[in-house]
Amino acid sequence: MARIGLYGLGVMGANLALNIADSGFDVAVSNRSQDAIDRFADMAAAQGLAGRVVAQPDLAALVGALDQPRSVIVMVAASAVDAVIADLAPLLSQGDTIIDAGNANFHDTRRREGAMRERGLHFIGMGVSGGEEGARHGPSIMVGGAKASYAPIRDIIEAISAKYQGQPCAAHLGPDGAGHFVKTVHNGIEYADMQIIAEVYGLLRDGAGWPPARIGQLFERWNKGPLQSYLIEITGKVLQATDPATGGPVVDVIVDAAGQKGTGRWTVIEALSLGQSASSIEAAVAARSWSALRRARAHGQELFGAIEPGDIPGEEALEQALLAAKVIAYSQGFSLLQAASDEYGWSLDLARCAEIWRAGCIIRSALLDDMANAVRDGLPEGQLIFAPSFGDAMQTGARALRSVVSGAALKGLPVPAFSGALAFFDTMRQARGSANLIQAQRDFFGAHGFVRLDDARRDQHGPWGQG
Ligand code: 6PG
Repeated sequence: MARIGLYGLGVMGANLALNIADSGFDVAVSNRSQDAIDRFADMAAAQGLAGRVVAQPDLAALVGALDQPRSVIVMVAASAVDAVIADLAPLLSQGDTIIDAGNANFHDTRRREGAMRERGLHFIGMGVSGGEEGARHGPSIMVGGAKASYAPIRDIIEAISAKYQGQPCAAHLGPDGAGHFVKTVHNGIEYADMQIIAEVYGLLRDGAGWPPARIGQLFERWNKGPLQSYLIEITGKVLQATDPATGGPVVDVIVDAAGQKGTGRWTVIEALSLGQSASSIEAAVAARSWSALRRARAHGQELFGAIEPGDIPGEEALEQALLAAKVIAYSQGFSLLQAASDEYGWSLDLARCAEIWRAGCIIRSALLDDMANAVRDGLPEGQLIFAPSFGDAMQTGARALRSVVSGAALKGLPVPAFSGALAFFDTMRQARGSANLIQAQRDFFGAHGFVRLDDARRDQHGPWGQG
């Protein structure tokens, strides 16, 4: 009998199952297609883990192979989760647990948790980050669901997770959809981080005329400084990789249209519906959508001309701008987490979220420990950009960000995420904004009313009728 089951042996599911077995737990597995089950059994045998793996032909057999109370991890595409639950739930009994470890929309997780609770089942929505390598050797794990639902599997989840200075990068963050929401925001930040890196690549390629390998070497150097992170590290490697077919840089043969499975978009949708805005994440999602408009972009270049290489901001400014934009993206991400926590009553511990992102996940970076500490110390006005420990980075970084955004704009090079980040920063450092005029306009055409600086009553009106 196995301690836990896992259904869905795609790349992430298979690696997670191997990780569970490798961590000393017996795991029963299954998949819709027998091929995947056979492939998995071969992999487990090749890695010396066959003794801890019970491969079963279908869900019913998988459930039959589990110790009671049973726990089953479901690792399938978001669109297939409901169908798998519909097959799985009737096979389980009161007190058993379903764990959805895919990238689910947290609204679905809330609905599923409620429905399973009514049947007497536990339901955990669990965000898992770290790609294939992370799943196999230690991902960051964001758990949502009733605390009591987590208790029976906590030892397994902590054992398979990444460790930061010996501490598991796995935590129960809150009820129902909290874990999947935190994972969604993690992915939104991932989009912003990837986009600002791509914008620097674009500036150096099109503005300065650098070849990919030279840009890659710069990222490799940056990875030894304050920007040290998984995404900077892999960017350095990717840019220096050679395409075996052409012998040229591999990035030069890749179509410039970015895919997206939806988590970045979900982040933006939730931000807007919570009355928030995560401008750097929005820009990153938009940039992926614009990247798909290849024919239109080629037409635009014909109409308005290509950019000629010339002067662009120096390496130091780019490095500092990357740092500042990153802090701004996280600041927006943390605000969004706080807003959702307030709305859904999750009592999220934001510092804990940052702590479990320090290792294993795609956005892991040297900065995350500083961010976690800053959040733990309390953020002035809830904004990471105001944290005293980031004061110097924001002072110099904002200057650099301004020179990068203005330099890129003057050359005609797109830097939407840098621009979005700077726009937020500049808005947040201006005590008196320009929304007084918006209020006057609204009142003029629709008598929507405004509040006066010298009189806090609502619904006051301007002298518009008087000409
Ligand atoms: C992770 C990643 C992962 C995500 C991929 C692709 O944390 O391991 O966020 O969950 O699915 O990065 O996402 P997109 O296809 O949306 O770029």
